[in-house]
Amino acid sequence: MPTPPLLVTNGRIVTASEDFRGDVLAVDGVVERIERRIDPASAPRGATVVDAKDKFVFPGFIDPHVHVHLPFMGTHAKDTWESASQAALVGGTTTLIEMICPGKQDDPLEAFETWLSKANAGAACDYSFHMGVTRFDGAAERALREIVRRGITSFKVFLAYKGALGVDDRELFAAMRLARELGVVVTAHCENETLVDEAQRSLVSAGRTGPEWHEPSRPPRVEAAGVHHLMAFAEATGAEVYVVHTSCDEAVREALAGIGRGVHAHVEVVIPHLVLDRSYAERPGFEGAKFVMSPPLRDASQPPRLWNWLRAGVIETVATDHAPFDFETQKHMGRDDFTRIPNGIPSVEDRVNLLWTHGVCAGRIDLHTFVASASANAARIFGLKGKGSIAVGGDADLVIYDPKFRGRITAANHRMATDYSAFEGWELKGRASVVVRRGEIVAKDGRFVGPGGGGRLVPRA
Ligand code: URP
Ligand code: ZN
Ligand code: ZN
Repeated sequence: MPTPPLLVTNGRIVTASEDFRGDVLAVDGVVERIERRIDPASAPRGATVVDAKDKFVFPGFIDPHVHVHLPFMGTHAKDTWESASQAALVGGTTTLIEMICPGKQDDPLEAFETWLSKANAGAACDYSFHMGVTRFDGAAERALREIVRRGITSFKVFLAYKGALGVDDRELFAAMRLARELGVVVTAHCENETLVDEAQRSLVSAGRTGPEWHEPSRPPRVEAAGVHHLMAFAEATGAEVYVVHTSCDEAVREALAGIGRGVHAHVEVVIPHLVLDRSYAERPGFEGAKFVMSPPLRDASQPPRLWNWLRAGVIETVATDHAPFDFETQKHMGRDDFTRIPNGIPSVEDRVNLLWTHGVCAGRIDLHTFVASASANAARIFGLKGKGSIAVGGDADLVIYDPKFRGRITAANHRMATDYSAFEGWELKGRASVVVRRGEIVAKDGRFVGPGGGGRLVPRA
């Protein structure tokens, strides 16, 4: 069924570079007109009119780092594409980029088909993927070439998770050389896997088994070593790289040093590292397991430094690394050994509102940095056609945002499938009032109102 035209009036339109009052007309899912005032009588018959008075009109937000289908650490992430995409939309995120994480022995092409079919069947928002390279040999190379040909123009490598998802240096070099040849961005989880492994063994054998030992097992120098390693390989191969979930100043400085030597590198932070710190993982009674992710939450001196790098534009994107595991049934797998706690913090629904509340409202970032880091920069870096802006001819992904809303986060009414929220009871100072995906209203005031499904694979440059 064709989407009826949509006219958004009276809003304050803010993109990464512009800030003005105006109206937006969407026809067939695409922005057709942007003018100071569009007379509703001049809109096509049957147009839905949304009054955005006293509200912002932002481009649909993009989360460039999520896990939905994720077999990991002996279990599976809890969300489906239905739950994750609807949670994303309620929270103002209209496009997700998911990490495809095949097992080492899996055929990459089959993995790609599996991940694609799950998104195709369930996604209510638009999506793309980073293709995980967990093994590199002749067969993997042929498959990767085919996957890039089909429009997936970014790879994901893990320098962590020894024996599971991690690649060795020969594989890393070969994957990055191929990426350079194909013009593909290499996204990378940077932690030195041997240093993590050794620290985990000595902590556990000393009886230090609680979630509070997760951070000491992978301190900032271990992450910085991973970033340094990636930068050296990027220098040698000429590949463009993107450092995911940078959690500490030391890691950002290694990326900057690489950039200073001419590496084409981008830096991502994820919302948990901006608003949470290590003390959460130290909560008593195994409560800390809710906050176990990798790289880990850092000491309280780190988040202010990450905000500074974000404000300075060195950190270009704010993602989530949404990796949802239940507290009761899944995090408890590591009750007697923190190395067995499934890593990840669910946050796809909360990212935009937390960045707004703790970034813009707290005076840490301005409106343009907000839109750039949560939408426009990801669209540019990953070549998401039609996304990340409000422009004639672009996709009509719009977030009509209410800065007067006041409310609190609670797992009791979130749409993510997990049984807890890492931000339980936290106050929000704004929320998406209307969320539009390619011209169609899919969420309103914290509720999903779409028909379900309808998400599309986004064409990539
Ligand atoms: O803790 C995390 N980050 N879990 C998801 C897997 C990954 O490393 O991105
Ligand atoms: Zn990671
Ligand atoms: Zn991740």
